[in-house]
Amino acid sequence: MTLLVTGAAGFIGSNFCHHWRGAHPGDRLIALDALTYAGNAANLAALDGQAGFRFVHGDITDGALVERLLREEGIDTIVHFAAESHVDRSIHGPAAFVQTNVVGTQVLLEAARRVWLAGSGREHRFHHISTDEVYGSLGPEDPPFHETTPYAPNSPYAASKAASDHLVRAWHHTYGLQVTTSNCSNNYGPYQFPEKLIPLVILNILHGRRLPVYGDGTQVRDWLHVADHCRGIEAVLRDGRMGETYNIGGFGELTNIELVRRLCALLDERFAAEPELARRFPDAPQARGAPAESLIEHVTDRPGHDRRYAIDPGRITGELGWSPSHDLTSGLADTVGWYLANGPWWTAVMDGSYREWLSQQYGGGVLPQNQEGTS
Ligand code: NAD
Ligand code: TYD
Repeated sequence: MTLLVTGAAGFIGSNFCHHWRGAHPGDRLIALDALTYAGNAANLAALDGQAGFRFVHGDITDGALVERLLREEGIDTIVHFAAESHVDRSIHGPAAFVQTNVVGTQVLLEAARRVWLAGSGREHRFHHISTDEVYGSLGPEDPPFHETTPYAPNSPYAASKAASDHLVRAWHHTYGLQVTTSNCSNNYGPYQFPEKLIPLVILNILHGRRLPVYGDGTQVRDWLHVADHCRGIEAVLRDGRMGETYNIGGFGELTNIELVRRLCALLDERFAAEPELARRFPDAPQARGAPAESLIEHVTDRPGHDRRYAIDPGRITGELGWSPSHDLTSGLADTVGWYLANGPWWTAVMDGSYREWLSQQYGGGVLPQNQEGTS
């Protein structure tokens, strides 16, 4: 196979490229990414220069570029991750979400249609990565989201993803494009940009910054390890039915406040076991004998904050034999370990614009240059 992976330098896209390379070393990977604030070429550094891997710095809304890549590279499979992905940013600036998530998806679909369906057509697949947020919010006793749950997106982010899902569906029904879609729950794991809850909490603890819990913290998310998500996408690409959607979830429901407490406890344990961490991170509360939980602060809730997400992965489990291999306890411990071991990665990620955002959130002087990430 020759795959075009859009958004390949982001969190899930880069994990997917590494996974695919390991599982299918004979396939070719064309990684397309606009390198927005969330994209990081370093996430793909290990693949750079390898035969069968090519990174293209470009935008999915550039139809001419996408069409040229599809033709020149003989691409038969698109795995579409590229998106604006952070709910809080969508509340402050929804236009970019419509542009990338809706217009960008339409541009990709059109390029695929022009190249793959011309003449007698060719074997192809367009796999679209979506989210459980398109289904809206669950009550405490509601059954988890199923593929047939009606769409009810609440944030501009969720609405833009819902719109893109509908476009993908329409290109299948109207033009016969061979598509599949997966809607997954909240991912966590290596290479996640530290504006999302889990890496944000880990890095804030290391730097002694407050841990902002929105509202009362009893909102529930269903956490999925990114490696399990990648295996789920692989299962859909292998055996998924054309035109179908598959929900991928991790059986990892937890309230935000409980999740934050678990991360605090994991870091307290690591500091207790490894005295050099207090020297590496002198601003961490553990370095002065205080627990990480002392940093928790309940802050103003996110507008329109969805109360609960949970996924019923019965279809992908039953039809495709997929099930998650990480439980949340070991997955969180591994993730804390990854961020502790990869200081240079997140030091580099914390560039000018991220620092600016941090100092708006937490006040000035948040990141002394000389104490990050070095071991
Ligand atoms: P991310 O923000 O980490 O990465 C997105 C990537 O897309 C970045 O590398 C960025 O540079 C790139 N990109 C943005 N606009 C682009 C454009 N116009 N052209 C080309 N590239 C562009 O996001 P992520 O967490 O890796 O999410 C990947 C996909 O998975 C998204 O479609 C998201 O909606 C979906 N998803 C994510 C989660 C999650 O928990 N992270 C959950 C459900 C679904
Ligand atoms: P996030 O990682 O932004 O993912 P999503 O909004 O897509 O679910 O947030 C996960 C949950 O954590 C969500 O309920 C919002 C909450 N949250 C906080 O309480 N504080 C924070 O600083 C962030 C970023 C999120």
